[in-house]
Amino acid sequence: MAKRQEILKIVSLFTVFSLFTTQIFGKPTEKGAVTNPVILVPGDGGSQFFAKLSKPSVIHYWCSQHTTAYFSLWLNLEMVSPFVLDCFVDNLRLVYNETSRKTSNSPGVDIQIREFGNTSSVEWLDPSQVSPTSYFSPIANALVKAGYQRGKSIRGAPYDFRKAPNELQDFFVKFKALVEDTYKINDNKKVVFVCHSMGNVMMLYFLNQQKQSWKDKFVSSMISLSGPWGGAAKTLRLMASGDNLGLFVVNPFTVRPEQRSMPSSAWLLPYDNFWDKDEIVVSQPNANYTVHDYKQFFEDIKFPNGFHMREDTKNLLQGSEVAPGIEVHCMNGIKVQTPASFKYSAKQWPDRQPDTIYGDGDGTVNQRSLYGFKRWQSKQKQKITHTEYAGVDHMQILGHDKTIADIRDILGV
Ligand SMILES: *[C@@H]1O[C@H](CO)[C@@H](O)[C@H](O)[C@H]1NC(C)=O
Ligand SMILES: *[C@@H]1O[C@H](CO)[C@@H](O)[C@H](O)[C@H]1NC(C)=O
Ligand SMILES: *[C@@H]1O[C@H](CO)[C@@H](O)[C@H](O)[C@H]1NC(C)=O
Repeated sequence: MAKRQEILKIVSLFTVFSLFTTQIFGKPTEKGAVTNPVILVPGDGGSQFFAKLSKPSVIHYWCSQHTTAYFSLWLNLEMVSPFVLDCFVDNLRLVYNETSRKTSNSPGVDIQIREFGNTSSVEWLDPSQVSPTSYFSPIANALVKAGYQRGKSIRGAPYDFRKAPNELQDFFVKFKALVEDTYKINDNKKVVFVCHSMGNVMMLYFLNQQKQSWKDKFVSSMISLSGPWGGAAKTLRLMASGDNLGLFVVNPFTVRPEQRSMPSSAWLLPYDNFWDKDEIVVSQPNANYTVHDYKQFFEDIKFPNGFHMREDTKNLLQGSEVAPGIEVHCMNGIKVQTPASFKYSAKQWPDRQPDTIYGDGDGTVNQRSLYGFKRWQSKQKQKITHTEYAGVDHMQILGHDKTIADIRDILGV
């Protein structure tokens, strides 16, 4: 009963879009009319994880210590009831080594990210395909109706979204090979990247590493949904007090250890070329913090490794100032209340949820960060377009009928 209630709450919280994913998106064109093959690049939380356990210890007696087979760790709705949430958090957290400045899985947890190149692991977060965990599936379904074929002309690039590019070099090597393979098996047609959220900054990083001749040969364009080019203020609250991410009903404090442990969270903190030096983003009775005060901020929340992770990752993107050098179509939701800054009382600081001051954005990413692509307009000759959808939030955009129609327009199918 409790579990059922939990799932119902999840359904209502997890954006409503997924309930409408079966709608028809325009009339199907003839099979084989594919113009450019597509690779789906997910964001934070957008890849399935499978885990096998052989743990030296567990935090509660009811947590599994050993499993004989791999099970779905992210995202398995059955795991995410309050009772087993602690077990889940302990399995998903990373451990930071201050000497090597690298992370590794929680001891005794083996994690697999499966079916690289296929779409299965990025269409649904829960492999049992429960509707609230739909991710890229509305877009994939629409493209399949238009003649695309899963595993051939529409492919997926799942990755360990807990990490930042400095620890994902293997992924970028595999991704480059996937682009070349996709080009080849589709009669040398250039590839379109369809990216969501953190997938955008992952791709900007990747493109910044490639030669222009490689991009000209293999890549047609990037369709960018909800790009956090300059970071998101929300990650400050996540670091200080935890964040339920709207994914499930949890006490943010319970998931904080896992969220803090992800270098990708540090990577997505607001950037100093997007926020002014005197703008207060977090305040508590004894201090005000701007984006230049991260060292003090992390000391005061008693998580100094957070500052190290930020230092490890802050230069990867070069502030999103370097243009990708390919055609880009940016799409984002707007006019949704978006956390902009946080005010803690003595009682709230730092373990409880603060008072949140909102600004414009898509509910997760602040407007100024979504508009980061404007910095490239004078820096590349390839076209940059922009479309926004009022009232559509960070996740809803993936199932929004207008977004899907616009993606089909760009692809010409
Ligand atoms: C941390 O990394 C260093 C250097 O790579 C290594 O020698 C050390 O064993 C690591 N520590 C742990 C606890 O794994
Ligand atoms: C991709 O996944 C689909 C279903 O999710 C499956 O039918 C297909 O065989 C897979 N293709 C490859 C190349 O693995
Ligand atoms: C924080 O900033 C506010 C507004 O500028 C100011 O009134 C307050 O004194 C500052 N607090 C501290 C601890 O510096």
